[in-house]
Amino acid sequence: MLVNAKEMLDKARDGKYAVGQFNINNLEWTKAILLTAQKLNSPVILGVSEGAGKYMCGFKTVAAMVKAMDESLGITVPVALHLDHGSYDGCYKCIKAGFTSIMFDGSHFPIDENVAKTTELVNVAHGLGLSIEAEVGSIGGEEDGVVGAGECADPNECKMIADLGVDFLAAGIGNIHGKYPENWAGLSFETLAAVNEKVGDMPLVLHGGTGIPDDMITKAISLGVAKINVNTECQLSFQEATRAYIEAGKDLQGKGFDPRKLLAPGFDAICAKVEEKMRLFGSVDKA
Ligand code: 13P
Repeated sequence: MLVNAKEMLDKARDGKYAVGQFNINNLEWTKAILLTAQKLNSPVILGVSEGAGKYMCGFKTVAAMVKAMDESLGITVPVALHLDHGSYDGCYKCIKAGFTSIMFDGSHFPIDENVAKTTELVNVAHGLGLSIEAEVGSIGGEEDGVVGAGECADPNECKMIADLGVDFLAAGIGNIHGKYPENWAGLSFETLAAVNEKVGDMPLVLHGGTGIPDDMITKAISLGVAKINVNTECQLSFQEATRAYIEAGKDLQGKGFDPRKLLAPGFDAICAKVEEKMRLFGSVDKA
């Protein structure tokens, strides 16, 4: 059931668990995530970066695929279709295409410009029933061309953006997209606690979910994180399973070259990874 992400994240914040945002890249990814959410009776957010949207032939194609798949698979758990790290123009494109939720990433603008653009997009999104995420501070590393220095958010700026009426807020707390380097200092719980205190009961978003140790995830949830984004870990699971299939020569046996067979181990690996994360985040049976 396609919905915006507000209610599921308010409930998660109150219930002290987090809903996973899993990024999609194609039909297999989308199907794997939807079926796993349904099996576990968990709400879920499908994240689409601008790069992945382009790869899948544009946001209209993505929205059409997700809507049709949601119906054909008989998905009854709440599913939000969400733009990840959207530009100003990207947000309007997704609104028009029929997404149920957007993220406006104005973190690289001076705070006044971030405030002005976020204010406008909050009004437009809410007028049409979409939920909206904003960002303060930046997420380190690179995701689909979006590069961030990884500075921690200023709690006062978080309050300023939260007060504009956004539904959930991403605050940089030392998190990074992609794999964490060996010398990573870990999440700044000091920053997270300060942000949480300033923004009241606003659901907070933890980007860069790949590779964050389980105990840090649990602590982050206890400090107001209600949405956790995972992308790279699903990609790595898919890649490892596909590599194993080919290295075992299975693509050379019988009809092992059939894409439905070739992509099956990767598909199963995504299902397993999403299940592991939903159990860790506590969203199972919360639909
Ligand atoms: P990872 O690729 O590090 O899991 O980050 C995902 C993310 O934050 C999407 O916005």
